[in-house]
Amino acid sequence: MSFLLIFFILPYLCTSSYPYGLIRNASIKIPLDMNDDRGHILKSQDCNQCLCNAFSNPKVALFTCTQNESINVTCQFYYFMPIRDEIQYPNVYTNIYLIQTNETFEEKDDCCNTTTLINKINEALRTKENVTTGPLRTLADGDNNTIITVASHRDDSEKRILLKFDKSTFKPVDIPKISGLKAAGYYDEHYYLGTDGNIYVYNKNLSTLLHTITSIGAINAIRFIDKTQEMIVGTAGNGIYVCRKDEVKGYLINCTLIPRIYNDEQLHAVGVVNENAFYVGWDDTDPGIHLYTRNPRDNTWTTKDNDKITHGYETSDIIIDNCKRIWAVVAHGDKVIIYGQNKTVLGAFNVVDKSLFNLMIAENYTLIMSHGSNNGLTRIKPDLNCRPLR
Ligand SMILES: *[C@@H]1O[C@H](CO)[C@@H](O)[C@H](O)[C@H]1NC(C)=O
Ligand SMILES: *[C@@H]1O[C@H](CO)[C@@H](O)[C@H](O)[C@H]1NC(C)=O
Ligand SMILES: *[C@@H]1O[C@H](CO)[C@@H](O)[C@H](O)[C@H]1NC(C)=O
Ligand SMILES: *[C@@H]1O[C@H](CO)[C@@H](O)[C@H](O)[C@H]1NC(C)=O
Ligand SMILES: *[C@@H]1O[C@H](CO)[C@@H](O)[C@H](O)[C@H]1NC(C)=O
Ligand SMILES: *[C@@H]1O[C@H](CO)[C@@H](O)[C@H](O)[C@H]1NC(C)=O
Ligand SMILES: *[C@@H]1O[C@H](CO)[C@@H](O)[C@H](O)[C@H]1NC(C)=O
Ligand SMILES: *[C@@H]1O[C@H](CO)[C@@H](O)[C@H](O)[C@H]1NC(C)=O
Ligand SMILES: *[C@@H]1O[C@H](CO)[C@@H](O)[C@H](O)[C@H]1NC(C)=O
Ligand SMILES: *[C@@H]1O[C@H](CO)[C@@H](O)[C@H](O)[C@H]1NC(C)=O
Ligand SMILES: *[C@@H]1O[C@H](CO)[C@@H](O)[C@H](O)[C@H]1NC(C)=O
Repeated sequence: MSFLLIFFILPYLCTSSYPYGLIRNASIKIPLDMNDDRGHILKSQDCNQCLCNAFSNPKVALFTCTQNESINVTCQFYYFMPIRDEIQYPNVYTNIYLIQTNETFEEKDDCCNTTTLINKINEALRTKENVTTGPLRTLADGDNNTIITVASHRDDSEKRILLKFDKSTFKPVDIPKISGLKAAGYYDEHYYLGTDGNIYVYNKNLSTLLHTITSIGAINAIRFIDKTQEMIVGTAGNGIYVCRKDEVKGYLINCTLIPRIYNDEQLHAVGVVNENAFYVGWDDTDPGIHLYTRNPRDNTWTTKDNDKITHGYETSDIIIDNCKRIWAVVAHGDKVIIYGQNKTVLGAFNVVDKSLFNLMIAENYTLIMSHGSNNGLTRIKPDLNCRPLR
């Protein structure tokens, strides 16, 4: 009827630790009839000690850690995954720790549930953090837990400089002044900085210009495919390039133009799906959003008409999230539309600032946004329980 084994002896330190999931303010209520070897209880000083116990027992699928009046906590370990309906939420005294992170409550993830996600985003939009002023373009991860963006001044190239911020504190980080920029990216210890015609390759501390990729057009977007070490470059009127590593120099500078879909327009948005697919979008309402896929036989990229998402808006950014949804930022619209894998609209939200331009989905669906107007960089932190990454 109940859990029999009760341990009072605690390991002092974990000899091993692994990634785990955490669902806050939730407990589990299992219908009766549990047999004896399907769990155990541990009274402990804190939840971390229960984690040690869980990591040292391969049978544990998850446990709950409950803090009641006493200073100690009670951990209930389970050797199986309860089903979604067995999760009780909210329960402010208890957290659920998911140990076998390859087994999940599929339906109970707030983050892949687009309805919940958008509700939480809309709540969080009321308390936005901001940093810097002035128009910005580009949003990418930099080195050392930073984000980078570029000040966007159409008429003053001197002011179009690279800016860097600490991703955790959201505070500016000092860097050398590099101007004349339009877009930026960081990959494998190198910065790739796009101008009106070239891409500069800089070292990690931005002290040395290592190489210039010349004459590929005004650079609007720079994205990377980690697994295959490729850089996708979107330009204004000159199409899309895929740049591979130059084996001698070691940077991604061996660039090839891939077939165009839509001529002579500003290609602003590149959203990488995986090593064999990425979406692109333009500063134009006609073309929609197109998917390019790799032909593995000859490593060329092609696109098919039926891979298109009908999207009658200008697109300034595209992001693919962990739930395989496609987020499209509507340029000049302060709106984000979220599409599912079957190309239907799952939901949308509005950002009241002027000129939302780029979007970054950081850990736990923290959204970082750059604005083309004077709103600089903003950040919101929706209160969500996300399933751990695999
Ligand atoms: C708290 O737990 C410790 C062992 O971790 C135990 O010695 C102590 O008696 C417990 N205190 C209470 C109030 O349960
Ligand atoms: C805390 O303990 C009290 C008394 O044992 C009990 O009535 C209450 O339900 C407990 N609360 C939780 C959240 O377990
Ligand atoms: C958990 O409950 C506490 C206390 O009521 C609350 O402050 C917190 O926001 C809740 N967290 C989540 C993720 O629901
Ligand atoms: C999860 O991983 C464990 C060990 O790594 C394995 O035994 C188990 O079968 C896996 N479960 C699923 C659903 O893949
Ligand atoms: C998604 O969340 C909404 C409310 O937030 C809920 O009504 C709905 O059942 C959830 N969908 C799934 C598949 O869990
Ligand atoms: C943040 O936004 C507030 C309100 O719009 C504004 O007064 C403030 O100057 C902004 N801060 C920065 C650093 O841009
Ligand atoms: C990385 O960032 C931390 C925190 O901002 C800072 O203290 C440290 O000096 C940085 N390291 C490098 C190599 O830039
Ligand atoms: C930047 O890194 C180079 C080596 O890549 C080093 O020689 C130089 O001293 C560094 N400069 C600064 C300012 O840290
Ligand atoms: C550049 O890429 C082409 C294939 O796209 C390859 O044949 C060539 O060797 C590469 N050049 C360098 C220097 O890596
Ligand atoms: C597309 O997927 C969504 C959610 O996954 C589903 O609700 C919808 O019915 C699907 N639409 C079509 C046309 O398959
Ligand atoms: C993300 O959420 C997890 C679980 O709540 C938490 O441990 C982690 O610190 C969060 N990460 C950030 C960057 O807030």
